[in-house]
Amino acid sequence: MDIAVIGTGYVGLVTGAVFAELGNHVICVDKMPERIAMLKDLKMPFFEPGLREMVERNMEDGRLSFTTDTGEAVKASEIIFIAVGTPPKENGETDLGQVEAAAAEIGKNYNNYKIIVNKSTVPVGTGDLVREIIVRHKPPELDIHVVSNPEFLSEGQAVADALNPDRIVIGAPNQQVAMKLIELYSILEKPMIITSVRSAEMIKYASNAFLATKVSFINSVANLCEKVGADVDEVRRGMGLDDRIGSRFLRAGVGYGGSCFPKDTESLLNVSKAFGAEMQILEGTIAVNRTQPVLFVDKAESVLGTLDGKLIGVLGLSFKPNTDDIREASALHIIALLQERGARVQVYDPMAMDNVRRSGLQASFCEDEYDAAAGADAVMVLTEWNRFRQLNFSRLKRVMAGAHLFDGRNIYDPAVVRRYGLSYHGVGRPSVFADETH
Ligand code: UGA
Repeated sequence: MDIAVIGTGYVGLVTGAVFAELGNHVICVDKMPERIAMLKDLKMPFFEPGLREMVERNMEDGRLSFTTDTGEAVKASEIIFIAVGTPPKENGETDLGQVEAAAAEIGKNYNNYKIIVNKSTVPVGTGDLVREIIVRHKPPELDIHVVSNPEFLSEGQAVADALNPDRIVIGAPNQQVAMKLIELYSILEKPMIITSVRSAEMIKYASNAFLATKVSFINSVANLCEKVGADVDEVRRGMGLDDRIGSRFLRAGVGYGGSCFPKDTESLLNVSKAFGAEMQILEGTIAVNRTQPVLFVDKAESVLGTLDGKLIGVLGLSFKPNTDDIREASALHIIALLQERGARVQVYDPMAMDNVRRSGLQASFCEDEYDAAAGADAVMVLTEWNRFRQLNFSRLKRVMAGAHLFDGRNIYDPAVVRRYGLSYHGVGRPSVFADETH
């Protein structure tokens, strides 16, 4: 099929590359000339395992191309995916400016029947808005249908997720339109669910909000575990074995971040208020997530006596492993709190250092985890990169001035850490003190 994808962010670029890989002809469009020039040069705008290779392969085979000319892409395509950014406004509402602009461009260049597919995460009702805008601009005699086909890929495993989704949701106005999307996706041999456009839009928000709520729920349980002397890691294992609950997204820690959960929970809460069916549960989800970094820093302050004048080594800055994305990363909230309370900070991340430097953070940027720990009173692990799971504790202890390890993702065995003369402090688990620090 001939496909256009408008927007070359995470969702757009991965979607375009994967559809090309599946044998379609895909034109990816972006308004930013620098970005298109980079992509033509095979420079990816973000790190995502396997993406560059897939883009290269499909460009060479002539199935994938890049342009800044939306008109050209629209005219050449029978299916057009809108995958532009939907950032939050100051008041928590979703800014649909880029979606509206894309719809207007589609309308102005509409030359024959096409299906327009919304892949951006958008509030319920946006499908109708997109349709209205296109209808306003397109020749009246040409028919048009708008579909909602939300994307569920996770950063760091986006290519794998797009090729191997749990389910494909197709929100279509009628069966015939749905069939076209079924045809496109059938090669993946995955479960597909056909719904109304509005239900599909809701499925995306409700799924992200549910997962965020699961994380905030276990974080609340973790905070109680600390008070009552239980270990949340044992609790989560016991809970997760119940099929009805499931073990995924039950890891306690310093809170969720990224470009989706924080924004989507706020947006859904906003929509629910606007329609008079306020989802109070989301107020709790969001509040717990805001507090989680504060509680972690409070704990460090109480263990160290004060943070004023202390040197803290921070390992992990991205919002999760295998990505260089630092948007809403808990690590950055924690660093800001540490600095507010007078601590100096040395940081290291395997992939996000450039992005953090660009963000303007004032800290010592280190070569590796041991460099970041050198002379530190305490080390905090805030993103569970695999290389941090394999920390050499004796080396860590040797280079540190103090002996406190704060495990913001509960990845270590407290007893093992203690064996190396370090005190262990996790989230929702009893602290284990090494003899010389207690
Ligand atoms: C999330 C969803 O998982 C995807 O299905 C969805 O497509 C995507 O948003 C989106 O809307 O585009 P993503 O933001 O890439 O994906 O990251 P997740 O893996 O969901 O992690 C989000 C945050 O939750 C991370 O900060 C992570 O550390 C945290 N988390 C996750 C926990 O604290 N505990 C857990 O058990 C799981």
